[in-house]
Amino acid sequence: MRGNKMISSMSMANASLLMAISAIIWAAFNSDVASNIRPPPQETRSITTDSHSSTTPQQVHISTVGRDHMRISWITKKPAPSKVEYGMSSGEYDSSAIGSCTSYRYFLYKSGHIHEVVIGPLNPNTVYYYRCSGHSSREFNFKTTPPQLPLKFIVIGDLGQTKWTESTLQHISQVEYDMLLLPGDLSYADFWQPYWDSFGRLVEPLASQRPWMVTIGNHEVEKIPIIHPTPFTSYNARWHMPFEESESPSNLYYSFDVASEVHVIMLGSYTDFDQGSSQYTWLEGDLKKVNRKKTSWVVVVLHAPWYNSNMAHVGEYESVDMRKAMEQLLYDARVDIVFAGHTRVYDGKANKCGPMHITIGDGGNREGLARKFMDPKPEISIYREASFGHGQLQVVNSTHAQWTWHRNEDNLPKADDSVWLTSLISDLDCKPQ
Ligand SMILES: [Fe+2]
Repeated sequence: MRGNKMISSMSMANASLLMAISAIIWAAFNSDVASNIRPPPQETRSITTDSHSSTTPQQVHISTVGRDHMRISWITKKPAPSKVEYGMSSGEYDSSAIGSCTSYRYFLYKSGHIHEVVIGPLNPNTVYYYRCSGHSSREFNFKTTPPQLPLKFIVIGDLGQTKWTESTLQHISQVEYDMLLLPGDLSYADFWQPYWDSFGRLVEPLASQRPWMVTIGNHEVEKIPIIHPTPFTSYNARWHMPFEESESPSNLYYSFDVASEVHVIMLGSYTDFDQGSSQYTWLEGDLKKVNRKKTSWVVVVLHAPWYNSNMAHVGEYESVDMRKAMEQLLYDARVDIVFAGHTRVYDGKANKCGPMHITIGDGGNREGLARKFMDPKPEISIYREASFGHGQLQVVNSTHAQWTWHRNEDNLPKADDSVWLTSLISDLDCKPQ
């Protein structure tokens, strides 16, 4: 492990005690460890060094807000202005916006100053240059999403921060894409909060350039009875997603439109999902609002896979009961694709008039791959492999999209699995109910 100022600022005794408590809590409360036998971790953590000054913006990431705005998020160790300056030429910032700042405590840990500013209106498919907190030494840039198809998503779950994560990010950095979708399990901090900071620094080069739209996995819960009973504290403070704009009551589930023809719904596997729950009611209303005459594709992103031909995570409540509660809603609305993570594997399935279920939990986490598959392979499973990698969804037009999966060991241009998808509303047999 390399140096980390936040860790070194604590006494070694405190750090050792906290690490031991974290390990015990993790083993006691996380079903990942308790319920599955998997190969030992193949790679150690890759912890980024914090070399920034106390007011230098770090951990910068962006997320789309509404049709033409972007939320910029970053952290400073000491107070600094929650201000973003931006423009279409490097070093020339003709616009600016002011936002807000928050922080949180987690046991003995106190976060830095977490800033967020929403900027816009922005032109589509345009590169903007920006700086945060007026800090001139760090200029970032991002590209807004195109106003219409084609559109390319990167999809990657269970990212973590290992050498495999670095490999995955390196592969993604070579891709011309418009938006990244992350179906849960981001940092694998697992209660040890400085690892959230390390993760923020690790993903910053990519997450500051394209919208990273994320949802929760089990590693985001971080709830400790009595000591820290509030779940999702770090996730909610650091990864504010545009839930308000989709009239969701919670940051744990939300939706948004991209390129006028794609509606993306991010669901929360680790919050209430039963019929009558807030999430269920919201999802029902959100799907009703989708105008399928204009919206060719509906994509759902969640963490615990509803269909899984791997032996890991079989029969978990969040998979089985969430599917029982919500599957009919998705089927009736002719949702095209459901992306899931959680199982450290790539697994694709198909179902006539129902969504294609793709498990893509192979970003690079520290728990190792889930190598044991059901045997024989269930008929509905098309392709499955226990390797680290990432997926790309190229939505070409209103009727066709191409999904490709890329193994980390291979050169990027090689697609190790590829399938063409036809939008369900273009199939006369699958008109929405
Ligand atoms: Fe998970």
